[in-house]
Amino acid sequence: MKNQPTHSPSPEAMDAYWMPFTANRDFKQSPRLIASAKGHHYISNDGRKIYDGFSGLWTTGIGHCHPKIVEAVQKQVGELDLCMGFQLGHNKAFELADKLTNLAPEGFDHAFFANSGSESVDTALKIALGYHRVRGDAGRTRLIGRQRGYHGVNFGGISVGGIAPNRKMFSANLINGVDHLPHTHNLEHAAFSHGQPEWGGHLVAELEHLVALHDASTIAAVIVEPVPGSTGILPPPVGYLERLREICTKHGILLIFDEVITAFGRIGAPFAAQRFGVTPDLITTAKGLTNGVIPMGAVLATDTIYQAFMQGPEQSIELFHGYTYSGHPVAAAAGLATLEVYEQEGSFQQSRELETLFAEAIHQFDDHPTVIDVRNFGLMGAIELAPRSGAPGARGLDAHKHCFWDEDLVIRNGMDILQFSPFLNSKPEDLESMFDAVRRVLDQIS
Ligand SMILES: Cc1ncc(COP(=O)(O)O)c(C=O)c1O
Repeated sequence: MKNQPTHSPSPEAMDAYWMPFTANRDFKQSPRLIASAKGHHYISNDGRKIYDGFSGLWTTGIGHCHPKIVEAVQKQVGELDLCMGFQLGHNKAFELADKLTNLAPEGFDHAFFANSGSESVDTALKIALGYHRVRGDAGRTRLIGRQRGYHGVNFGGISVGGIAPNRKMFSANLINGVDHLPHTHNLEHAAFSHGQPEWGGHLVAELEHLVALHDASTIAAVIVEPVPGSTGILPPPVGYLERLREICTKHGILLIFDEVITAFGRIGAPFAAQRFGVTPDLITTAKGLTNGVIPMGAVLATDTIYQAFMQGPEQSIELFHGYTYSGHPVAAAAGLATLEVYEQEGSFQQSRELETLFAEAIHQFDDHPTVIDVRNFGLMGAIELAPRSGAPGARGLDAHKHCFWDEDLVIRNGMDILQFSPFLNSKPEDLESMFDAVRRVLDQIS
């Protein structure tokens, strides 16, 4: 590969850091290292300007090192670095909760802060279980996720999640009483759909089967990503989410939308709930909450849920849950600055306006010989490559590496699925050049 260095830190020198979701031994042979970032580009250790086609890791929608966020963080860290978050508070956490709930769908009046998407998910599952219990409905303990769902890596999240490699090493220890709805991807019926596939809405009926099997009185909540992202972008079939809401309501089951990716403009609205016109009972967020600058997650809850907990003696803690860094001052400052920039720059509208161009650009690969599916919704897109015989994932990783070394481009591959998460404020010409580069790579690798 063109720019692949002949020497770099030796694998031994890099041994101490056990990298997350990375092929450590392969990576350390020829590490792809980033020294700095600005706007839409990374600068690699070898000084190349690299276009970031994944906006961080679905995180950095308004670009790297946004000056207003940088300034807010720098100011905050010198003013109040940390404040104990249990039985003590600081203004910015309250202010952020206020701004966040104002952006959320009607009725979401409360925010519980965490430090990541995984923590937000486990927090939401606990709130769902606790909600039924505090209302005297403690028999509702079952949780329902969906095949191919990604809800982070904590035990709750992998239990309701549906990605086999993330589960199998821990399978004996996953939490009890979890079922999964079928995923909605189908190459035969829905390959190369533009946006929401027409096929697949009927699959939601499996929830009625689970209710018939277990009885609604045992089921606490269903959790889904409105648009599953990490598994390779599976837009919801037409009517699916609406029907899911109806079935949950009918049976008194809480509906949780995991919006760790889909919130904050990724699909052209503050939240996917608003874009689809479907209102869940709990929403999890992270990533775009601070533009990825400082780790932070949040669970948004309706007033009904919150008020159910606000019972009993006033001096008693209502929810025995929280993190040392819940509502961390520096993260809160980053969150406030981020939400302000979204508003000032009209980021969600910018994202919405780029959708058509993005859809057209990505679907140019529909007839590429190595491609078996192309999917898109909002500014989320996937090109699924045919796996090489006996080497699943190899073609995808090859494409990722060629993009990095030959084309100065970062894209993500999940096995053989190339994933794209462009900036909400992308320049149209940059999107075009990104896909030109991807085409050169796909034409070159076999
Ligand atoms: C839908 C969803 N939920 C949860 C998570 C986990 O977030 P984190 O990696 O911040 O723990 C992710 C991460 O990509 C995600 O996409």
